Amino acid sequence: MAFTINVNGQVQNVDVDGDTPLLWVLRDVLGMTGTKFGCGMALCGACTVHINGVATRSCITTIDSIEKAKITTIEAVGATPAGAQIQKAWLDHEVVQCGYCQSGQIMSASALLASKPQPTDADIDEAMSGNICRCGTYVRIREAIKLAAQANK
Ligand code: FES
Ligand code: FES
Repeated sequence: MAFTINVNGQVQNVDVDGDTPLLWVLRDVLGMTGTKFGCGMALCGACTVHINGVATRSCITTIDSIEKAKITTIEAVGATPAGAQIQKAWLDHEVVQCGYCQSGQIMSASALLASKPQPTDADIDEAMSGNICRCGTYVRIREAIKLAAQANK
């Protein structure tokens, strides 16, 4: 079936089954491999994108459920104010280790900062708890989010 979706401000026409997860449309159909596959069951956060600004697991989001939505991926989140702040803080704090989980971490963190420019520790815990990092970069992630938030004071 043909579906029209808006990814990073561009209208894309894709021909896939309606129950195809957005993750595979992004990666396999559109060739946008920045969004990662981890578990496929909404358990790890590696596949996180923004749908209408909300951090969403693309591995369980079917293409037929998001036709009118605005999708932002790691490839373009740096063009948003919160995404740019988060990416700068990630670099300044040298957050990344192997990097596999980091697209999802940045997408969750930037959605948090866009909705709450001054997040509390509880806000950070809530927003980031679903993003797993096998390298254990959690402390640096928390510090980087706080660093990014300082720019909003
Ligand atoms: S791949 Fe989607 S949450 Fe793990
Ligand atoms: S940086 Fe390696 S899994 Fe998170």
